[in-house]
Amino acid sequence: MPDERLKDRIAIITGGSSGLGKATAIKFANSGARVIIVDLQSSGVEEQIKQQHGEAAATFVSCDITHETAIEAMVKEAVQWGGRLDIICNYAGVCLEGTLAAMHRVDSMETEIFDRTLTVNVRGTWLCCKYALKQMLAQEPLEANARGERARGWIVNAASVTGYVDRF
Ligand SMILES: NC(=O)c1ccc[n+]([C@@H]2O[C@H](COP(=O)([O-])OP(=O)(O)OC[C@H]3O[C@@H](n4cnc5c(N)ncnc54)[C@H](O)[C@@H]3O)[C@@H](O)[C@H]2O)c1
Repeated sequence: MPDERLKDRIAIITGGSSGLGKATAIKFANSGARVIIVDLQSSGVEEQIKQQHGEAAATFVSCDITHETAIEAMVKEAVQWGGRLDIICNYAGVCLEGTLAAMHRVDSMETEIFDRTLTVNVRGTWLCCKYALKQMLAQEPLEANARGERARGWIVNAASVTGYVDRF
């Protein structure tokens, strides 16, 4: 079912080439949003969306979210393409420490894996929020919704239920 709230919204989807990000990009486009797929590499999802909804429905921006200057440039490029930024969904992330069934324990995990995971999943997501928020606060709020709220934008961050698990 299309969601009317997404119609004509400009949405960045990080990690949009795969998994949750890809599914969200397709769902948003099906509801009339214009999506900026952000990832290390394109998987062709933006072409798939354009074929279905037209040339203006999607674009791809290559960006490694571990680089602050690349994120700043990516948000600028997205705004140039869309005219504003209504939504950012942060799905870019890595799961390097094993599968759910075989998580590394602290005493057996390489420090490099810990560092890389936090650099992408926490620092990268925080930086994407930072530059999206700068743009959202600078732009005019949207027209009021049925509850009279005039939002400047929405930020959605993916997390994991594993964050609530204290033992395996
Ligand atoms: N799928 C699940 O059930 C689930 C459950 C809990 C949490 N998560 C978390 O949600 C996020 C998305 O999960 P998913 O299943 O869609 O994963 P996925 O691996 O399918 O997609 C993640 C995407 O992020 C991109 N990415 C990785 N590092 C990046 C970087 N430095 N810069 C830009 N893009 C980068 C990858 O290229 C990939 O396309 C991950 O952080 C994952 O750990 C997923």
